[in-house]
Amino acid sequence: MAASDAALACQHREVLPELVDVVGPHHVLTAPDEVAPYCTDFSGRYRGATVAVVQPGTVDEVAGVVRLCRREGVAVVPQGGNTGLVGGGVPVDGEVVVSLRRLDGAEGVRPEAGHWTGGAGVALGAVHEAAAAAGWAYGVDFASRDAATVGGTIATNAGGLRVLRYGDTRAQVIGVEAVLGDGSVVSHLGGLVKDNTGYHLPSLLCGSEGTLGIVTAATLRLVPPPERRITSLLAFDSVDRAVQAAYDLRRDVRTLEAAELFLASGLDLVCRVCGLPSPFATPHAAYLVVEAAEDVRAVGAADAVSVAGAAERAGLWRYREGHTRAVNTLGAPHKFDVTLPPPALAEFMHAVAPVVEAAAPVPVRTWMWGHAADGNVHVNVTGLAPEEERVDEAVLRLVAALGGSISAEHGIGRAKRAWLGLNRSDAEVAAFRAIKRALDPDGILNPNVLLP
Ligand code: MLT
Ligand code: ZN
Repeated sequence: MAASDAALACQHREVLPELVDVVGPHHVLTAPDEVAPYCTDFSGRYRGATVAVVQPGTVDEVAGVVRLCRREGVAVVPQGGNTGLVGGGVPVDGEVVVSLRRLDGAEGVRPEAGHWTGGAGVALGAVHEAAAAAGWAYGVDFASRDAATVGGTIATNAGGLRVLRYGDTRAQVIGVEAVLGDGSVVSHLGGLVKDNTGYHLPSLLCGSEGTLGIVTAATLRLVPPPERRITSLLAFDSVDRAVQAAYDLRRDVRTLEAAELFLASGLDLVCRVCGLPSPFATPHAAYLVVEAAEDVRAVGAADAVSVAGAAERAGLWRYREGHTRAVNTLGAPHKFDVTLPPPALAEFMHAVAPVVEAAAPVPVRTWMWGHAADGNVHVNVTGLAPEEERVDEAVLRLVAALGGSISAEHGIGRAKRAWLGLNRSDAEVAAFRAIKRALDPDGILNPNVLLP
């Protein structure tokens, strides 16, 4: 629930002059219209309010803000491009927002080493551009690339469209700089591929959702760019055939980079909202957007189209990447980003809509798309009030019953913390808490996410 404006008026006001001392008067935003864009997450489901958005411009300023907030007992929410989808980066409980977007300087690509170093506030799309200009590529990519920041992708361990080939963000981060909860700075940005000198802080900070440290800079592993990219849209007459094809392609297509799934209902909505023509003369039950250096043919496909030009490829990707925006036009969706073990993905996709309907107190619609070859499907339910949680519980319990994970890539945030126990034992959660206490002794870093 959002902290009320009246409560916020007195909450934390005393730190404002000192925050100004740390970051300067232009970088402490307090006017309601200035802070509003930082207070609602990208899904629209999680809304909050804050007394201030602080915009540090250096790692020392981030450390100064953390030390001050620790001394005054003020909770902070770190925020990058605010493209999160689980309420993990917005001040739902009246926290002070620490926006990292001004940390957008970059040392850039070291071509001989094959890595990129830069600030947490650099947009993911800018990393792609810098890598391409130096003859390299970056392995993590997704639709909100121009708004999402490096720091946000690390805090959430972002996945996206090419995990099947390059792995998630955790697999790319070979150096990190961060401010811990006591205001100390840890920095290890050298980027050596082999470096067994103790605990691997990049792994720990990846996916920690801003609860252990505020990432301020990173060194990211780059990959050789593919020789060429051919994008295919494959149509299937059943979900089962499309899911099976996605798994088979992983084994059969050596250069496969992506195998992304969507369904007839989602395609129809995307075409209407984005003004796109239908890709085939007749509709089909399910589709895969597939990308590889070769022209991919899949067993069981009822229709297919392949393109190689950049504009044509972007045209096919629009059918897949338009889903988030198209569903958002129906009102704030309840979003679930779940992974199922391979044999259970199609079974889950058949089972979930009836489970949603049985739990929903009002008429709803269920939408699905995702990263089929990773076993990761995005389930979006529209028509529910933001605070309604019966459907959330039913979907997440179904996932756990089928051996899946309740978060494949968006994180736990506020959306799923009540159900962390479906996937994590008491002993694991106790270990998480011990790590949190060690790195954030007074619990000021994003204290209202992840841990139940
Ligand atoms: C996607 O794969 O489309 C993203 O994770 C965003 C979303 O789930 O809406
Ligand atoms: Zn996704």
